[in-house]
Amino acid sequence: MNGHHLLSDVTSESNRIHHSAFRNKIVSAEEAVRYIHPGDTVAISGFGSAGTPKAVTPALAERIRHARAGGTDFTINLLTGASVAAETERMLAEVDGISLRMPYQSEATARRSINSGGMDYLDIHLSHVAQQVWEGYYGHIDVAVIEVSGITESGELIPSTSIGNNKTWLDVAEKVVLEVNSWVPDAMNGIHDVYYGTALPPNRKPIMLTGVEDRIGQPTLRVDPAKVVAVVETNLRDSAMPLTPPDAVSKTIAGHVLEFFEFEVSKGRLPADSLLPLQSGVGNVANAVLQGLDAGPHKGLTCYSEVIQDGMLHLIKHGTVKYASATSLALTAEGVDELVANIDFYREHIVLRPQEISNHPEIVRRLGIIAMNGMLEADIYGNVNSTHVMGTKMMNGIGGSGDFARNGYLSMFLSPSTAKGGSISAIVPMVPHVDHTEHDTQVIVTEQGLADLRGLSP
Ligand code: COA
Repeated sequence: MNGHHLLSDVTSESNRIHHSAFRNKIVSAEEAVRYIHPGDTVAISGFGSAGTPKAVTPALAERIRHARAGGTDFTINLLTGASVAAETERMLAEVDGISLRMPYQSEATARRSINSGGMDYLDIHLSHVAQQVWEGYYGHIDVAVIEVSGITESGELIPSTSIGNNKTWLDVAEKVVLEVNSWVPDAMNGIHDVYYGTALPPNRKPIMLTGVEDRIGQPTLRVDPAKVVAVVETNLRDSAMPLTPPDAVSKTIAGHVLEFFEFEVSKGRLPADSLLPLQSGVGNVANAVLQGLDAGPHKGLTCYSEVIQDGMLHLIKHGTVKYASATSLALTAEGVDELVANIDFYREHIVLRPQEISNHPEIVRRLGIIAMNGMLEADIYGNVNSTHVMGTKMMNGIGGSGDFARNGYLSMFLSPSTAKGGSISAIVPMVPHVDHTEHDTQVIVTEQGLADLRGLSP
């Protein structure tokens, strides 16, 4: 079943909804989108390819297309965790359905719309989103559409494959639409740790997370049932693409990084076995670094990052990584099979948290994170451009790179030394757009070598 038809009675097709107040609200995706109106601010679940609503968003795109064909303008402001499943981003951009997008995207159709002025884009540090939404920077949040994997007898929500900003969306939105996705394996229940202790100034308290593996919250999300206007049942998989094996350039970059770690160990600045918690962006180079670590001498590493991909499962299985904390589990079909087949093992080694915790500056600083992120280009002073191609065209956005680079113990940026077949240098005299200033950048790595900028005058 795909959630696209109206259920005539209130019986649930899966056995994931254990609370009658929610069962009574089961409708089709087409019914559910009637709660979304032109001009609404809509906050949806999703981080990376994981946990995006899979039935309501296509139905919304169709509703917008239909309205437009009938001469009615219909756009929404779209808020997410970070990037969402590419097909969702594309569908809504293709019908020109988004007037404002926040805080991150990485899809070609949306990118074109942003760069041609068709869509406003707010490129925000991912750790800032929750507090800024709470403060009302982005106005009233009309509807939240959140994918969950189940609803408990007491009406708590079992999170899906990502948490992102879901806690915030459920708290602040006027109306809530839930997608209950029975594809998400039951076995994943309990892998989540949702912290409800954050507050706005002046009422903040320290967040007592002092180790990557610490659990400081609860396994479920809360929602006021009175706000839930519709529940849509789905059985649809996430769409993570298999990683391509690292190419020669990525492997060379990874080799420099691994050599640098040994140098730091020899200086007594990194623990010899476990180093310090690793954060890495996604993509070819990050993947090559992880694979390189898997082949190397270190055991019992930890990761405090945003997204866990298939490669991380291998590192955990081999004992290279003993614990990984993230906000999204973006696994391929094989990755999900591997996780579910060995869930009791992985549950002891993985936790998913809200992104205000996975990216929290206080925690990133306390844990002493080694931050490794991609870049478009860097200049000879160490300023880094992560977002604007040639200084003008938005690529993806800053994402979480600023959260980790500014607050990390070691801030590293990695990239091939050239782009576009060697015609553009990634190392330039002065970057045309700055995301990370020279003060936030300590190490720049390309396949040509590693520049250690610590202690150097401009
Ligand atoms: N000038 C022009 N184009 C450039 C460029 C430069 N200096 N450097 C890279 N590019 C282009 C590449 O050619 C490629 O384009 P293509 O897909 O059309 O071929 C594209 O940018 C991506 O580059 P690639 O080398 O494949 O690297 P990547 O996939 O690692 O992405 C960033 C690099 C900077 C775009 C990516 O890391 C990013 O979005 N970073 C910001 C967000 C972030 O750090 N997130 C993780 C933190 S939690």
